[in-house]
Amino acid sequence: MPVQRTFVMVKPDGVRRRLSGEVIRRIEAKGYEVDQMKLFTIDEDLATRHYAEHTDKPFFSELVLFITSGPVVAMAIRGPEAVLGCRQIMGATNPLEAAPGSIRGDFATEIGENIVHGSDSPESAERELGLFFG
Ligand code: RTP
Ligand code: MG
Repeated sequence: MPVQRTFVMVKPDGVRRRLSGEVIRRIEAKGYEVDQMKLFTIDEDLATRHYAEHTDKPFFSELVLFITSGPVVAMAIRGPEAVLGCRQIMGATNPLEAAPGSIRGDFATEIGENIVHGSDSPESAERELGLFFG
């Protein structure tokens, strides 16, 4: 299986709820490695670029306000098939559809505050890692 690097971020709700350690624990327990990590607050410019694919969505302004509302833990995660593997650890976007045992299934109730972000493809991972760690 190809070793990949993916971008994972504990969102402001996850940091506020003291779930950063839990998110990292699950990623490491699976067998992935934290390659880079930083705690900081995203500004509006970075938020807009990160979520560029959602610019035209009705929830875009709410999404930018939320993601800039407090510190995040941004990480580069490395390991076999890390992109898909991290998405599986996170669970479905809507916590009501996320399986129990996934981060969103276990810790979240609302789609707008779903604890964690993970790149959805190797191409997204490269773009997002460049934005946050380039
Ligand atoms: P993420 O990018 O945060 O890892 O989440 P995702 O790939 O599972 O979902 P995506 O479609 O990329 O949506 C990005 C984030 O936007 C919020 N969202 N709100 N109100 C809504 O209908 C709605 N839809 C999406 C979610 O917080 C989602 O994680
Ligand atoms: Mg996404």
